[in-house]
Amino acid sequence: MRLDMIHLQTIAVLLLPGVWSQSSRSSSSLGVVVEAKNITLPVGSEAVLPCHSPRMVWTQDRLRDRKRVVHWDVFRSSPEYSVERILDMSPGARQRVYNSFNKGRISIPDSAFIDGNFSLIINNVVTTDKGVYTCNLHHHYCKIDQSVQIQLNVTKSARKEKRYWDGEKTVFIVLLGSSVALPCVNRRPLWREGVQEEQQQVAHWDFQPPGVRPDRADRLVDLYASGERRDYGPLFAQSKMSMAEHAFTLGDFSLTIADVKPVDRGLYSCHLHHHYCGLHERRIFRLTVGPPLPPASTTAPRIFPIDEPETRTINLDAPHVVNVILPEHQAYLVQHLGYLLAAVLLLVFIVVAVIVLTRRRKKKDYDLRRSARGNLMSGGEMSLDYTELKACNQEPMNSDYKNNLLKERDMTKGCNKDFDGRLWK
Ligand SMILES: *[C@@H]1O[C@H](CO)[C@@H](O)[C@H](O)[C@H]1NC(C)=O
Ligand SMILES: *[C@@H]1O[C@H](CO)[C@@H](O)[C@H](O)[C@H]1NC(C)=O
Ligand SMILES: *[C@@H]1O[C@H](CO)[C@@H](O)[C@H](O)[C@H]1NC(C)=O
Repeated sequence: MRLDMIHLQTIAVLLLPGVWSQSSRSSSSLGVVVEAKNITLPVGSEAVLPCHSPRMVWTQDRLRDRKRVVHWDVFRSSPEYSVERILDMSPGARQRVYNSFNKGRISIPDSAFIDGNFSLIINNVVTTDKGVYTCNLHHHYCKIDQSVQIQLNVTKSARKEKRYWDGEKTVFIVLLGSSVALPCVNRRPLWREGVQEEQQQVAHWDFQPPGVRPDRADRLVDLYASGERRDYGPLFAQSKMSMAEHAFTLGDFSLTIADVKPVDRGLYSCHLHHHYCGLHERRIFRLTVGPPLPPASTTAPRIFPIDEPETRTINLDAPHVVNVILPEHQAYLVQHLGYLLAAVLLLVFIVVAVIVLTRRRKKKDYDLRRSARGNLMSGGEMSLDYTELKACNQEPMNSDYKNNLLKERDMTKGCNKDFDGRLWK
């Protein structure tokens, strides 16, 4: 299950740049499928169809306009390589011109964030203006960055003035002392004022029973960033289905279906639309309902024995998703081999121990005392201890002690006596 989730995240990460690069105009109303999954659940269980997107989180930030910025930079190759910030501007703030020589000479229209015209106006062009200019637009809230490059050359001859496309960027050859506007125009609404964001974010779930065409799918619920929820049919009112309380705060639009029944099987799709940022994502789940779990299996260590093998992740764009079942089986195999090896080792150990003990016992019967004395003389106290204790423990089995406690006490006494006596001999 965990591997599965990691894969899903990887897919999301891989696919999201693609989502961002397309404009709201070109994406279909259905959106890009970022996840498709088959899920099988036993009758009576609870289904949670995951639908998360951090980009849908509605930040209640009243200053969100300031999260956009435009800046113009220039790259020069002579007299030396250098990059210089010319100016920058955010909505609602004055533009900042960095070099005092450029103040009053270089600017962008004050209406830039209203009409989307971010062109750089340079009056009284000087030779040091030569370089590659970049117009950079950053939208921190939507995480969109766009830039445009323009080469500016300065000429002293009016004849040589021209502008053309060199295959990579626009080239402007401008007469010394004249004025020029380096174009940077982006009329997409997200760079401009006056967009009602609350109405522009919506999450909705559709349900398509088996045999029903996609365009005939039932709408289950609409959820707006404003907090408004429109649900269709009695399912939400009856608590059969539910979504997180603060979905837009958490970016969690997962659908929970209680007490799954065979009639619940079909295709569920989660659609996330952020019209303002141009985000359109779709996640599809094919829900299959299997037989109920036998009650005894609740004691099993694995909680979803039925669900797991039949849950597979597919990705329509990147077919490199690895089936999660294989690594698990390998792990079990290794585990079983380990158990087997340990059992064999234990058996070998027991056999060796029995042989050694039997031999020692025979030896003890013949010359226990001599062996003990000999060991003591050579300074082997450890060996002596061992032999003596063994001799003590091997008391005849037919002794008539009332209980083990008495027997043990007596044995220890006897041993110590014996042992002490021998030491003092
Ligand atoms: C953008 O503004 C510049 C400077 O005011 C002007 O020259 C240019 O025509 C404008 N471009 C468009 C497409 O409106
Ligand atoms: C413009 O300036 C660059 C850098 O000095 C130079 O490589 C390029 O040839 C010039 N282009 C024209 C048309 O003069
Ligand atoms: C999901 O189920 C459908 C219909 O049973 C099947 O066509 C599709 O191949 C399955 N997808 C995966 C990844 O198992």
